[in-house]
Amino acid sequence: MTDKNIKKQYSGILGFFIKLFQIILYIPIQIIFIPISIIGITIAVYKEMGRSRKLGISFSAVKALQYRWMMHYFNTRPDPLSIAFIKNFPCESHFGMWSVMGALIISLRSFGFPEKLGKLVEPGEETGDTTAGIRVLTFDRIMEKYVEEVDQIVLPGAGFDLIALHFTKGKNLKVFELDQVNTLNLKVETMKKAGIQHDWITYIPVDYANESWVDKLLKAGFDKRKKTLFLWQSVSLYLEAEIVREALKDMANLCVDGSVIVQDFYSQAFAEGEYSKESKNFLGIIEKMGEPAKFGIDMSDDPKASVELFLAACGLKMTEYIQFGEKLDIEPFYAIVEAKKL
Ligand SMILES: C[S@@+](CC[C@H](N)C(=O)[O-])C[C@H]1O[C@@H](n2cnc3c(N)ncnc32)[C@H](O)[C@@H]1O
Repeated sequence: MTDKNIKKQYSGILGFFIKLFQIILYIPIQIIFIPISIIGITIAVYKEMGRSRKLGISFSAVKALQYRWMMHYFNTRPDPLSIAFIKNFPCESHFGMWSVMGALIISLRSFGFPEKLGKLVEPGEETGDTTAGIRVLTFDRIMEKYVEEVDQIVLPGAGFDLIALHFTKGKNLKVFELDQVNTLNLKVETMKKAGIQHDWITYIPVDYANESWVDKLLKAGFDKRKKTLFLWQSVSLYLEAEIVREALKDMANLCVDGSVIVQDFYSQAFAEGEYSKESKNFLGIIEKMGEPAKFGIDMSDDPKASVELFLAACGLKMTEYIQFGEKLDIEPFYAIVEAKKL
C-alpha cells in the first residue's frame, strides 16, 4: 500500500469517528427540541399557510424569504434585515423556524454538524437541493456588480426579498419594487413594524396578468433616459408564457444603452413537475396555495441556445449565461441570464 493510500484510509477512519462523535452530541440537543418543535411546527404551518391564504399574499414569496432565514442561521449569508422582517411578519414564525431547525443550527455552529446544511457547492455543481441558496448568492453578486453603474433599479416581482434595501441604502439611486397589491402592502407594513427604513424605494402594486406595469412604473417616476438594472428573480415560473414574453419586450423597450436585464429561467420539465420528485412535491404545495408553475423553457437539447432564442424574440441579446449543475452529468433545469437590448 502506498503512503497516499494509507493517509487516505486514516483520514477516512478519522472522518468516520468525527461524524459519529457529532451525531452523539447532536442527538440529546434534538431530543430537547422535540416538544418545542411540535408547538413550533403548528404555529409555523398556521402562519405560513393559513394566514398567507387569508391575507391573499404570495406563498412562493414566503418560501423564498424562509430560505433567506435559513441561510442566515446556517452561516451561508448574513441577512439581519430578513431576520428582523420575519420577527414582525404575520405569515412566518421566527419561533417556529427556530424550534424546527434549532438543534441543527446549534450543532452546526458549535461543532460543525451537519456540515452539509452550511455548505455551498461550487459554481456549476448545483443540484435541485442547492439551487435556492446559490440562486440568492448569484443575484447578490449581480446586484453588487451593477449597483454603482446604473441610475435606477427595478425589481418586478420583488416579493419579500430585501436585496434592494441591502444594496442600495445611501446610494442615491431610484429603486422601484413591483408586486401584487396584498404582498406589497404586507411587506411595507412589516418593514414599518420592524423599524426597517425603506423610504428611498417606491413600491408599485401591479398584477401583470391584468394591468400595464409599464404605465404604473412611468407614473411612479421611472426615467426612460436613465441606465436601469431590471432584476427579475424567480417570477417567470409563475407567469403565462405570453406574459413573460410581453414583460421582457417591455423591459427591452425601457432600456437605454448600459441597461441590463437579469432574470432566471426554469426548464419546461421542471415547471411541469417532471424534473425530480422533490421539485414536483414543492411545486404541488405552491400550486395548492394558488400559484401553479406555468412557464419554463425547453432545455432538453441545447439549453443555452433555447434561452438565447427566447430572449432574442423579446428584443434582447444575452450577455451572460449561468447554467446550474453544468459541471454535473444532470438534466439542465435552471439558468440565470443577463441581457441587454438588441
Ligand atoms: C417566488 S416569488 C419571488 C419573489 C422574490 N423575487 C424573491 O426572490 O424572493 C414570485 C413573486 O412573483 C410575484 N408574482 C407572481 N405573479 C404575479 C403577477 N401576475 N403580477 C405581479 N407579481 C406576480 C409573486 O407575488 C411573488 O412575490
